[in-house]
Amino acid sequence: MIRFATKALEKILGALRRMESRSGTPSMNRHYKEIIKSTSVHDMVETADEAYYGDQYWHWISKYLESEKLSREGIYADVGCGQGRLAMRLSKWLSPGGTVSGCDISESAIGEARRYAKGNGMDNISYEVSDALSFLKSQPSGSLHGVLFIEVAFVTPGYADVLKEAKRVLKPGGLLFASFRPQYFNLLYATSSDKLEDANKILSSRSGVLWGGNITYTWQTSWEVEKLFEDNLGMQLLNLVGIGCVSGIEGDPHEKLARPSRLDTDTRDKLMQLEIKLGEMMPDGGRYVLAIAKK
Ligand SMILES: C[S@@+](CC[C@H](N)C(=O)[O-])C[C@H]1O[C@@H](n2cnc3c(N)ncnc32)[C@H](O)[C@@H]1O
Repeated sequence: MIRFATKALEKILGALRRMESRSGTPSMNRHYKEIIKSTSVHDMVETADEAYYGDQYWHWISKYLESEKLSREGIYADVGCGQGRLAMRLSKWLSPGGTVSGCDISESAIGEARRYAKGNGMDNISYEVSDALSFLKSQPSGSLHGVLFIEVAFVTPGYADVLKEAKRVLKPGGLLFASFRPQYFNLLYATSSDKLEDANKILSSRSGVLWGGNITYTWQTSWEVEKLFEDNLGMQLLNLVGIGCVSGIEGDPHEKLARPSRLDTDTRDKLMQLEIKLGEMMPDGGRYVLAIAKK
């Protein structure tokens, strides 16, 4: 009787496991495949619009590295570093002895990141192909001065676990810079690209497959990001700013307002000054919202 019951239980468990792998894993495989594919066609370092937003992020990142007196000889990580757009800015800021380690799930992005670092003679950066969570789990607690997690949470359904690990690996007083996709941006995108069928999902959920593709996105309001850092993570939120409040890359709803790459240097500088001011006034108006938090 007991043997019969155990066999029946094993059968049920086996069927449940098969169902789980059918519904979960293949869709996540497609999710990662599509993200990795996008990194081979979109270079965050060379695309002129992305370089402009790299400078806008760096305005805020360097401002807080300086005001919080973080060590230029410290140890930093860029999680989901892509081709190294921000890791390289950090590398230049460091003094001898300081290091940046970057990780990304995309082999081609890491290949490009290594090529750029070598071309620029930056020997204080190291890169590895790794998932954000596994990379952080491999770091000792309280070992890093700063962690960047820029434009990765919006394609990382498990971003809350990544942030928890990022906090664990930071030293007391260490800084975490993480950016998120504002809910408002996705609603603007749905409206401007004739994809209003996704609007209800964007209003009522905070993650899901959008735009008829395979990627599971996440999105938030700035108020929710504030709660996440202060209540869930127990970190001190130093600032919350919008990045790209009145401009965008090709395909963004903000593109209709301004494309940084299409402007002359003087106009682009004026746009930068305006977006830096607007960023603090209306974090939800950005293409991304950047949280700056201290452990
Ligand atoms: C929009 S790019 C941003 C790259 C870089 N942080 C920057 O700001 O230039 C997003 C990057 O996140 C990476 N990524 C997505 N999910 C990841 C994960 N779970 N672990 C590590 N990297 C991930 C992608 O491969 C891609 O290179």
